[in-house]
Amino acid sequence: MRLKGKSALITGAGSGIGRATAIRFAAEGALVTASDISDAAAVETVAAIREAGGEATAAGGDVAQDGDANGMVQAAVDAYGRLDVVVNSAGISARSALPEGASHEAVWDKVMDVNLKGTYLVSWHAVPEMERSGGGSIINLASIMALVGYPVGMGGGFNPYNASKGGVLQFTRNLAIDMASKGIRVNCICPGYVETNMTQALTGNPDSYAALKGRHPLGRLGQPDDIANAALFLASDEAAFVTGAPLIVDGGYRARLVALT
Ligand SMILES: NC(=O)c1ccc[n+]([C@@H]2O[C@H](COP(=O)([O-])OP(=O)(O)OC[C@H]3O[C@@H](n4cnc5c(N)ncnc54)[C@H](O)[C@@H]3O)[C@@H](O)[C@H]2O)c1
Repeated sequence: MRLKGKSALITGAGSGIGRATAIRFAAEGALVTASDISDAAAVETVAAIREAGGEATAAGGDVAQDGDANGMVQAAVDAYGRLDVVVNSAGISARSALPEGASHEAVWDKVMDVNLKGTYLVSWHAVPEMERSGGGSIINLASIMALVGYPVGMGGGFNPYNASKGGVLQFTRNLAIDMASKGIRVNCICPGYVETNMTQALTGNPDSYAALKGRHPLGRLGQPDDIANAALFLASDEAAFVTGAPLIVDGGYRARLVALT
């Protein structure tokens, strides 16, 4: 039990990486607050955790709204009396940000709001509670796209997703330095492509699926549990000397690009 008794808030816990992380953390003894903009999805994750014998509570809300971000932090404190770990996994791609036909500017704003501002807002409200709990660990979901450009044909230079994740990486470094004296560690994970709802449009097409697999030297895309395991390490005391770090979990995606340049 690597997280026994730790209160962990996980945003975007209704799907993909956030859901897998919530389930993994609960299996390691964490008291999980599963938050998502979809109440139903958060409740479903909580049900899965409880069915497996874990402890969890659901909290809805939009991470890009200050009041909601505060509300999910308070939900964790109300339920478990403390806050030790936050995983900022709520996120959207440019593809899924808004209905087709939305302006390029509206898509840019939406992706930045959810991915970057949402990470900031939840962290902002979480820090005082973590201080009261004697320290903690914030884990942000950046991306391999914080470190490299989009593959040709898969995005485009004006895609806000890379910029939002680059922002998450730099926010992580900055906050880590600021929070070190408070005993709060702040790290981010840079996953390669992971098979979730977010990437379904690409993985559902055999051609793009094969092309993506070819970009990962391990010969497969990531699974949500690959990322949940990395988050577990960063949340646990085993990572006591790790802060301000981008943890790359990408099947060799970036190493291959570095080798090519
Ligand atoms: N899947 C990948 O290949 C991949 C790679 C690198 C990084 N990431 C990042 O990992 C995180 C999780 O992605 P995923 O693949 O699990 O996606 P996903 O679409 O499966 O899950 C994202 C969850 O976030 C929730 N969400 C969206 N907007 C929200 C908001 N405004 N407030 C609260 N919740 C909101 C969604 O309802 C959904 O349940 C994201 O930040 C994503 O950018 C994903």
